[in-house]
Amino acid sequence: MKTNRKFTRRQSLKLFGLGATGVALAACAAPRPATQAPAAEQPAQPAAGGGKLEIFSWWTSGGEVEALEALYKIYREKYPAVEIVNAALAGGAGQGGNMKAVLETRMIGGDPPDSFQVHLGQELIASHVVAGRMEDLSELYASEGWNNVFPKGLIELASYEGKPYSVPVNIHRSNVMWYNTKHLAEAGLDKPPATWNEWFDYAEKLKAKGIGALAVAGADPNFSAHVFENILVATLGPEKYNGLFNGATAWDDPGVKEAMDILLKSHEYAQADYLSVAWGDINEVMTSGKASTMIMGDWTHGLFMSAGFKDYGWAPAPDTNGIFVALSDSFGLPKNVKHRENVINWLKLCGSREGQDAFNPLKGSIPARTDPDLSKYDDYLKQTIEAFKTNTIVGSIQHGAAAPQGFVNDYDTVVSTLLASKDTAAAMKELVAAAKTAGLSK
Ligand code: GAL
Repeated sequence: MKTNRKFTRRQSLKLFGLGATGVALAACAAPRPATQAPAAEQPAQPAAGGGKLEIFSWWTSGGEVEALEALYKIYREKYPAVEIVNAALAGGAGQGGNMKAVLETRMIGGDPPDSFQVHLGQELIASHVVAGRMEDLSELYASEGWNNVFPKGLIELASYEGKPYSVPVNIHRSNVMWYNTKHLAEAGLDKPPATWNEWFDYAEKLKAKGIGALAVAGADPNFSAHVFENILVATLGPEKYNGLFNGATAWDDPGVKEAMDILLKSHEYAQADYLSVAWGDINEVMTSGKASTMIMGDWTHGLFMSAGFKDYGWAPAPDTNGIFVALSDSFGLPKNVKHRENVINWLKLCGSREGQDAFNPLKGSIPARTDPDLSKYDDYLKQTIEAFKTNTIVGSIQHGAAAPQGFVNDYDTVVSTLLASKDTAAAMKELVAAAKTAGLSK
C-alpha cells in the first residue's frame, strides 16, 4: 500500500472528484449552457398550496426507502396540499440502471421530473448542467445560507462556472469493508483484515469452511467495478488515483495492473452462486452468511439496519485506511418543470438541518451540512463524520463523482470483460482508450 500523506481539510475537499479541475475538464469538452431564465420569467406555477411534486430516484430498497420517506413525511407536514409522486425505479442499484436512461429520455424530450436523485460531480455537471438543462441555484444557496454550511469542496462539485446547480443531501463513503463478526471470531481473528495480504489469508481460512470471502453480485457487472475502484485507490494511493482523471496517471500504470490482479484473485473467493446474484439482492448474501466480507458503500449500513441484521462490523476497504472515497446524492431543479415552487420547497428541505438529520441516520450516510445534531447519528456515522474531516478525500468513479457517465459506462464494461477474459493487458488498453475518448487524458 502507498503511504498516505496527510492533506489539509481544504486540500482534501478539493481532491473529492477533482473539484474544480474535473469540472473544468468537462467544460472544455462541451458546449456552453443556455442562458438561464431569471426566476421572474418562469411560467406561473401552482403555489405550494397545491399541485404535485414528482421525485425521481432509484431508491427502492430498505434504508433508502425509509430515508426518502422521512423527507416526504416532513414535506407533507409542511405542505399538506401538495401531492408527492414518488417516481422511484427499482433495479438501479449503484449505477441508476434503467433510471438514468429514462431520465435522459425525459430530459431531452422536455418532460423533466420535478426533481431527481443525481450524484454531485461529473454525473450532474457533464450529463445535465453543461447541456443547459438545470436551473442555477445561486439565489437559493444565498437565501438558505448554504454557502456557509456545506463544505467548499462539495459546493465546487455542485457548481459549473461558479454557480451551484444541485443541493447535496448527504455524503456516502464507498470504500467500506462490511464483515460478518461471527465468521471473524470463528476464524480466530480479533480484528478484520486491513490489507489485501491479510484479506487473502482470511479468505483461505473461510474457504476451508465453505464460506465465500467476498460477496459478489456477478449478474450485475457494475458491482465488481465498484470493488475495483476501491482496489485502485489501494494500489495507487490517493494522488495517483486522482491522476487517472486528469491524465497524470496512465490507465496502464503498474498500479492499475496490480489492482486488476487483486480483483481477479479476490473473485476466486466469491460466494458459490455469485454469477446469478444481482446487485439489488447482494445484502441477502451477507445477512444469510454465504459470504463473509463485502466491499460496498455505506448505504449498506442503512440496508442492514433495515433488515434487522446485527452480526456485522466495518473497516476501511483493504489498504485504504486514511482515505475516504466519497460520493454525494443531491437534488436539483430542471428547467421548465411542472411544479417549480414545490420543487424549491423540496430543495429547501433537502438542504436543511432538519431534513438532513431525518434522512441520513436512516440512509447510512453522513450529512452534507457541517452542523448536524450529532445525537441523531449512531457510532458508525459518528466515526464516518470524523473520518470525513481527517481523511484524504477522493471521488468515486462508479458513483458519479470523478468521471463523466460515458467513461463510467466504458469502465464498467472493461471490468466485466476482464472478469471473464482475465486479460489484464487488453483491459488496460481499453481503459487507456476510454480515458482518451472521455477527454480525461490526451
Ligand atoms: C449509490 C447512491 C446511494 C445508493 C446506492 C445503492 O450510487 O449514491 O445513495 O442508492 O447507489 O446501490
